Amino acid sequence: MASLNDIRSTFLDFFRRNGHRVVDSSPLVPRNDPTLMFTNSGMVQFKNLFTGVETRDYSRATTAQKCVRAGGKHNDLDNVGYTARHHTFFEMLGNFSFGDYFKETAIPLAWELLTKDFGLNKDRLLVTVYHTDDEAAAIWKKVAGLPDERIIRIATNDNFWMMGPTGPCGPCTEIFYDHGDHIWGGPPGSAQEDGDRFIEIWNNVFMQFEQFEDGSRRELEAKSIDTGMGLERIGALLQGKHDNYDTDLMRSLIEASAHATHQDPDGPGKTSHRVIADHLRSTSFLIADGVMPSNEGRGYVLRRIMRRAMRHAHLLGAQDPVMYRLVPALVRQMGGAYPELQRAQALIEETLKLEETRFKQTLDRGLRLLDDELARLPEGADLPGAAAFKLYDTYGFPLDLTQDALREKGRAVDVAGFDDAMAEQKAKARAAWAGSGEAKDAKIWFELAEDRGVTEFLGYDTETAEGVVLALVRDGAEIGAAQAGEAVQVVVNQTPFYAESGGQVGDTGLIRTDTGMVEVTDTRKAAGVFIHIGRVAEGGISKGQPAKLEVAHGRRSQIRANHSATHLLHEALRRALGDHVAQKGSLNAPDRLRFDFSHSQALSPAELAQVEAEVNAFIRQNAPVETRIMTPDDARAIGAQALFGEKYGDEVRVVSMGWQDGSGKGADGRTYSLELCGGTHVARTGDIGALVMLGDSASSAGVRRVEALTGQAALDHLRGQGAQLAEIAAALKAPLGEAVDRVKALAEDRRKLENEVATLRRELAMGGKAAGPEAREINGVKFVAQVLQGVSGKDLPALIDEMKSRLGSGAVLLIADTGAKPAVAAGVTADLTARLSAVTLVKAAAEAMGGKGGGGRPDLAQAGGADIAAAEAAIKAAETLIGA
Ligand code: ALA
Repeated sequence: MASLNDIRSTFLDFFRRNGHRVVDSSPLVPRNDPTLMFTNSGMVQFKNLFTGVETRDYSRATTAQKCVRAGGKHNDLDNVGYTARHHTFFEMLGNFSFGDYFKETAIPLAWELLTKDFGLNKDRLLVTVYHTDDEAAAIWKKVAGLPDERIIRIATNDNFWMMGPTGPCGPCTEIFYDHGDHIWGGPPGSAQEDGDRFIEIWNNVFMQFEQFEDGSRRELEAKSIDTGMGLERIGALLQGKHDNYDTDLMRSLIEASAHATHQDPDGPGKTSHRVIADHLRSTSFLIADGVMPSNEGRGYVLRRIMRRAMRHAHLLGAQDPVMYRLVPALVRQMGGAYPELQRAQALIEETLKLEETRFKQTLDRGLRLLDDELARLPEGADLPGAAAFKLYDTYGFPLDLTQDALREKGRAVDVAGFDDAMAEQKAKARAAWAGSGEAKDAKIWFELAEDRGVTEFLGYDTETAEGVVLALVRDGAEIGAAQAGEAVQVVVNQTPFYAESGGQVGDTGLIRTDTGMVEVTDTRKAAGVFIHIGRVAEGGISKGQPAKLEVAHGRRSQIRANHSATHLLHEALRRALGDHVAQKGSLNAPDRLRFDFSHSQALSPAELAQVEAEVNAFIRQNAPVETRIMTPDDARAIGAQALFGEKYGDEVRVVSMGWQDGSGKGADGRTYSLELCGGTHVARTGDIGALVMLGDSASSAGVRRVEALTGQAALDHLRGQGAQLAEIAAALKAPLGEAVDRVKALAEDRRKLENEVATLRRELAMGGKAAGPEAREINGVKFVAQVLQGVSGKDLPALIDEMKSRLGSGAVLLIADTGAKPAVAAGVTADLTARLSAVTLVKAAAEAMGGKGGGGRPDLAQAGGADIAAAEAAIKAAETLIGA
């Protein structure tokens, strides 16, 4: 018996042999479609190839595409487990032609694969065509030899396939298998078509038109082919089963569930095993593609699926978490075809286990509450909306989980009542918000959040995405459109742009629509709404348009590197300086990073060097940067660094990076850096490149600030410093290695020379070393007086001392001819100070020169004069004083 894995390979090989490129499945979160919640068919990743907007180096492709149909337009969640062919996750096998072949080739290819490679009995096959599609009918007749009654014309949209309200579309032909008259049901188009006898196995779409918003269509220049065949369905058929859940792959998951819960796979818990098997696939694949459980958007759909599975595990009597234990079975089955499952296995297990553990307590209490409520109701009555809302609000029971629980009891929920209760709660929240004094200009964002929903952030996984313009805002009010040159704030349903928070600056980039382009210069958020702030650079943009959003890649890469480096830096500082180091602020900009932390002393050069070296060692380790979602308590329990006093929601992202040897004191004993963080990060620490510390400074009392550069900026900085050093060495005419010694020697030489120059200047001023002005004897005191050129008042005391020592005993008067303000100094040797004071001497001299004051000690005093022309008179005055 061919396994599902074999059947997938057979399909892909068949089309490979027929000139098709085997293309990988695209992620479950569509990268190129703003309106789709999840990838729900094979053609999603090729959308733009059909319309001709994009071309690739192949015109024929084949894929096995992961699909999720839960939430959004195609929602099969409620039926899963109870029917033979509903799944939240399935694989769609498809072949595609982009302007290459059309009906004439697609139909023969399909027929050949089904009847030869898959070996299906021709007599059991029948097809439908769109009622006007004579061409397709003729080809079927010719190629397959089908009689007219097995080529059924269908006039409804069942045979006209559209991706959505707009986009590529066209008539299709569907291939059915007749399981035989022992099963109830009629051929397509008949009254009994919903029975199980005739099962659709393959849809071939002849992409021929593009549909626009106003309902008009244009004929596509290139006619294309898009086909889709559910692997689970064809697998069931080829394995002789009537139920998709009886195929080998699904059966192995059901058995894993039975084993883990110690329950018979086919016993009373059969439905629950099927739910678990299906939901294990959708949840695991969604987590592998970057979706994390949350209370919004895709994350909420994931949470709903998880919780539905958990209730079924509970029904099976499981006391402990079950889902996470089934992941290895899934990886064994599907990890070969989808290696992302293997890569994300740990993350999937951890996320499931966490969600299961947390939900377990409220599940028990919620189910008890549900039973109590039901006991009070009349037989068969609907559960009141208020009770369902309480289960939702207090116990985290999504509405569909409550509905699922009631289904077994043949009951329903009063959904209108539930909606009323929800609306009432929102009104209360609005009233509370209006009274909370938040800025008035935030009002518009709050209203937009309520009216159009919060923005889904896709930027952890992608830098480009498509979105729908939900609102254009200027000056706190909505506008319908904005034209070139005008400032505008753009709100879309989903965005890859990061909105400034947690120190990481907002993204910049471009938003393009069919009619114009906005240059986004910053992104902020308020009330969960992302605000793309910018200016229309070309054309115009209007509300309601689909838009392509592109984050400025280079800038974002630098921001990412800086943000991840900040985490390493934080940890390195904590280890170098102590546990008191706590983050007080940070900036992660494209050109640099800044980190403020509690610490009261400046960092020594050695500490800076140590921190820098440690960060760089972890950069070189090139360890993957991992993100997990946890409760704040769990995050703290494993030692994640959180901002003190910061309010965190029910869930936090924990970003970890770097392995340590186990000797460190940090975190979970294994990981180097663990931090609560909502920012964007590099994939591996090596992506940071390098880190260079720029030094530290005081930020405020008890808070230091370090700044650093990473990546190319770090290298540029080092290069710049290197160039300066080289220039210094060149100026010194010394090799770089000797520059430091040379500079030190130069400084020493300069000091010596300065001393020498000072000495020489003094000597020169006094007329040479040995000789000097003649001393006269007045009243038994040797007296020297001189007017000096080229010296300043500052030089006089030293010169006075010099003279005094030459005299041995006596008095000295020196006048510095400095031009504007002559300086005067007098000295008296110690043996004479009792009868003659330098202070009186200098005062007399200064006065004679029109100066005032003067002071000092009896042996040395200074004063300022006013008129150098009176220098002789000053000397006279001094002589007179000594003579008196
Ligand atoms: N896109 C087509 C479908 O999903 C093949 O049925």
